[in-house]
Amino acid sequence: MALSRNWMLVVILAVTCSVAVAYDPLDPTGNITLKWDIQSWTPDGYVAMVTMNNYQQYRQIMAPGWTLGWSWAKKEVIWSIVGAQATEQGDCSKFKGGIPHCCKHTPSVVDLLPGVPYNQQIANCCRGGVVSAYGQDPAGSVAAFQVSVGLAGTTNKTVKLPKNFTLMGPGLGYTCGPATVVPSTVYWSADHRRKTQALMTWTVTCTYSQQLASRYPTCCVSFSSFYNSTIVPCAKCACGCGAHKSTQGRGGKSHSDGCIMGDSKRALTPGVNTPKKDGAQLLQCTNHMCPIRVHWHVKLNYKDYWRAKIAVTNFNYRMNYTQWTLVAQHPNLNNVTEVFSFQYKPLLPYGNINDTGMFYGLKLYNDLLMEAGPFGNVQSEVLMRKDDTTFTFSQGWAFPRKIYFNGDECKMPPPDSYPYLPNSAPRFPVASALAALACLLVLFLLA
Ligand SMILES: *[C@@H]1O[C@H](CO)[C@@H](O)[C@H](O)[C@H]1NC(C)=O
Ligand SMILES: *[C@@H]1O[C@H](CO)[C@@H](O)[C@H](O)[C@H]1NC(C)=O
Ligand SMILES: *[C@@H]1O[C@H](CO)[C@@H](O)[C@H](O)[C@H]1NC(C)=O
Ligand SMILES: *[C@@H]1O[C@H](CO)[C@@H](O)[C@H](O)[C@H]1NC(C)=O
Ligand SMILES: *[C@@H]1O[C@H](CO)[C@@H](O)[C@H](O)[C@H]1NC(C)=O
Ligand SMILES: *[C@@H]1O[C@H](CO)[C@@H](O)[C@H](O)[C@H]1NC(C)=O
Ligand SMILES: *[C@@H]1O[C@H](CO)[C@@H](O)[C@H](O)[C@H]1NC(C)=O
Repeated sequence: MALSRNWMLVVILAVTCSVAVAYDPLDPTGNITLKWDIQSWTPDGYVAMVTMNNYQQYRQIMAPGWTLGWSWAKKEVIWSIVGAQATEQGDCSKFKGGIPHCCKHTPSVVDLLPGVPYNQQIANCCRGGVVSAYGQDPAGSVAAFQVSVGLAGTTNKTVKLPKNFTLMGPGLGYTCGPATVVPSTVYWSADHRRKTQALMTWTVTCTYSQQLASRYPTCCVSFSSFYNSTIVPCAKCACGCGAHKSTQGRGGKSHSDGCIMGDSKRALTPGVNTPKKDGAQLLQCTNHMCPIRVHWHVKLNYKDYWRAKIAVTNFNYRMNYTQWTLVAQHPNLNNVTEVFSFQYKPLLPYGNINDTGMFYGLKLYNDLLMEAGPFGNVQSEVLMRKDDTTFTFSQGWAFPRKIYFNGDECKMPPPDSYPYLPNSAPRFPVASALAALACLLVLFLLA
């Protein structure tokens, strides 16, 4: 009993405090796992199938996709790759005759673009480095390539595991652990009548950290309600003003070429939407300077139900968000009755606490959130059944506790600004002060 209460406390604190660690309380087991399966030994090395599984519920890798890097333990070279390529060949001058595909000590490998000739493909390759979130599209959450390695060990005792894995790309903030040998992968033949086994298998786990991906939030939240005419806007400079104009963020996400007014001539000039190689954004000028705003409107009150409207607006002229995801945390999400024009999937990060869910677009209807402009928004309405014991419109209860867009936590308005019922005093300052105190205490205890 005491134990479960302590566990609850840990969960609540983990959810309340945004501590700068690579751990997402809403997707605690989410990670990207790389797996190297040695399929055959060669006279001077091995052929391995490298598979990348994105086990994250709602965080995808968007175009322009992943770049996977590592350091060889010895003097290994890559003779060839199927389904991907190294970005640089490096110095192969000491080879005569057969020239390797890559001689660099720290190769960087990228996916091929869709449409490469069939003989250069393998299963799950060639999607331009785009990898879906597991919770949204399990089939698209895998990437793979086959690599032929030379000047390497040729038995499972002499082979040396690659080191220092990195998973990079604009907006990606992953840290990868060391490679570890695991029991060899067992494969079923296509007819499920014969099992084969990798000669050796190792895995690497990479976890996401938003702080590593960008210094500033990448989205913000605004609120309104039918019971109070106040519209609570996104916090001023929620995604950083000016500070990130010309500096490349660590992951590249916050790089921006200033901003342009939505009604200006420049917003209409051809080429304004052309994406930049480094993912640099071109924002519409706003108070919050975020590429994405999520608006939550408490719309209607029925006897047994209530209805919220969710609208997502894109302010980046250079970004189409394909397969976007929106995660919301609200205590009434355990009684979602109907979601209009979005898909909804409950996420149960702690098994029985059903207060978090993922919204995403309907295929070919609104799963593309278009660049800034007249079509740069998607919206939905959610009908929830009131829970007699907890439901209330007072004290901002009807507003979400957390919002994530594409796996990044959005900046909320300050708690004491939430629209409140006429004649009810806001109690938020006390609650948030207590939460802050609890966070400080935990950080102090952890330190
Ligand atoms: C990575 O994710 C998978 C699937 O959720 C999980 O089984 C595994 O334990 C995770 N690995 C680590 C090191 O967290
Ligand atoms: C891995 O990275 C560390 C620190 O960046 C470095 O000291 C080490 O030499 C690297 N290992 C290899 C094999 O390159
Ligand atoms: C290496 O191969 C031998 C047999 O060839 C096997 O018994 C052993 O478990 C393998 N070791 C690893 C780490 O895969
Ligand atoms: C977004 O998609 C539309 C339609 O597919 C295309 O015309 C436009 O150029 C794209 N914009 C960007 C920024 O990629
Ligand atoms: C979680 O809530 C949804 C409705 O929002 C419901 O359909 C689902 O059955 C619930 N799951 C659990 C395990 O309570
Ligand atoms: C809300 O959901 C919970 C758990 O899913 C369920 O036990 C409860 O009866 C539901 N409340 C209403 C009013 O439907
Ligand atoms: C609406 O909420 C705001 C807080 O955001 C509050 O200042 C205002 O007094 C409320 N309006 C009414 C009519 O109660």
